Amino acid sequence: MTTTAVTHIASLVTNDPSLGNGTPLGLIQDAAVVIEGDRIVWTGESSKAPATDNVLDAAGRAAIPGFVDSHSHLVFAGDRTQEFNARMSGQPYRAGGIRTTVAATRAATDEELSANVARYLAEALRQGTTTFETKSGYGLTVEDEARALRIAGRHTDEVTYLGAHIVSPDYADDPAGYVDLVTGPMLEACAPHARWIDVFCEQGAFDGDQARAILTAGLAKGLQPRIHANQLGYGPGVQLAVELGAASADHCTHLTDADVDALGQGSTVATLLPGAEFSTRATWPDARRLLDAGATVALSTDCNPGSSFTSSMPFCVALAVRDMGMTPDEAIWSATAGGAAALRRTDIGRITPGARADLVLLDAPSHVHLAYRPGVPLVSAVWRSGQRVV
Ligand code: NIG
Ligand code: FE
Repeated sequence: MTTTAVTHIASLVTNDPSLGNGTPLGLIQDAAVVIEGDRIVWTGESSKAPATDNVLDAAGRAAIPGFVDSHSHLVFAGDRTQEFNARMSGQPYRAGGIRTTVAATRAATDEELSANVARYLAEALRQGTTTFETKSGYGLTVEDEARALRIAGRHTDEVTYLGAHIVSPDYADDPAGYVDLVTGPMLEACAPHARWIDVFCEQGAFDGDQARAILTAGLAKGLQPRIHANQLGYGPGVQLAVELGAASADHCTHLTDADVDALGQGSTVATLLPGAEFSTRATWPDARRLLDAGATVALSTDCNPGSSFTSSMPFCVALAVRDMGMTPDEAIWSATAGGAAALRRTDIGRITPGARADLVLLDAPSHVHLAYRPGVPLVSAVWRSGQRVV
């Protein structure tokens, strides 16, 4: 198999604390990475790199692992510009806006939906995202949810069944009937197409008991739980996630001390989605409080047309550093290794032998520039599974 070395990387984030400077980022100065097929086979100082078939001189640019965006909602049609305008004129964000996207999504063809996913993925890739998770949740019928998952599965392995996004408008007078549908025939149709099950546990969506019933039913069908929790207010979502051993509790904006302690002590990752707070003008989640309590924190985009219409992980990194109390090192770790942890993946989010060859070269001497130079397109090359894709 052909081997390729990327040499003279000014500063390489490996996310292996046993390498380089011994911090969680495992930073190596003047580094090289050797790729063979779809894997990384060697990481170290450039002067010690083994001979390879091809050499690409990074010429003083920094490199990081490809971003892992562990939370997005890409199977949708239309947009919600008017709703955004209204919010920026002082209206609050409401979960009910989801109905607008449900109507547009139901009316779209498979081809339109798939092209939309591909478009946002291409955007994300240009900004360094090499792995993403995406969800259903804008269909809310058996057929439309299963269709969304089939379409998502054409683009990623990390597919999440979110039939419980809101109570379907078709069941406005019968929320219990909708929970029966989500845990019954809809789950039956959707489980073969998904790895994860999610629920929006929030006032105006599903309460703690409903969320428990939904996630437990998913578990019985072999789906692993994750949850939208504590976004718009305090609630039972985080505690439920930890109790069920969910891979991740996402949003985590309104947390009691008990919630923070539970995340600090449990194995559930706290995934923070600063694009949502940005786009809804809401209170920032307190990453510092979670990190100080020992929680594993991931950063993701939550890309969706309602609450966070960004596909940019660098933007989320910059917000997390500026407004959520994270250092640049912590934010980069959370956007790469943290996302991998939220998806319970060990093959991505690090640049060490055996990992998938997902590598991002930056037009900057250090990863810190991703937060230091917000809004600047610093991604200059991307490899995904060993293939140069940008
Ligand atoms: O993660 N919170 C629930 N779901 C999305 C919002 C979806 C929408 O508004 O369309 C979120 O923010
Ligand atoms: Fe979301």
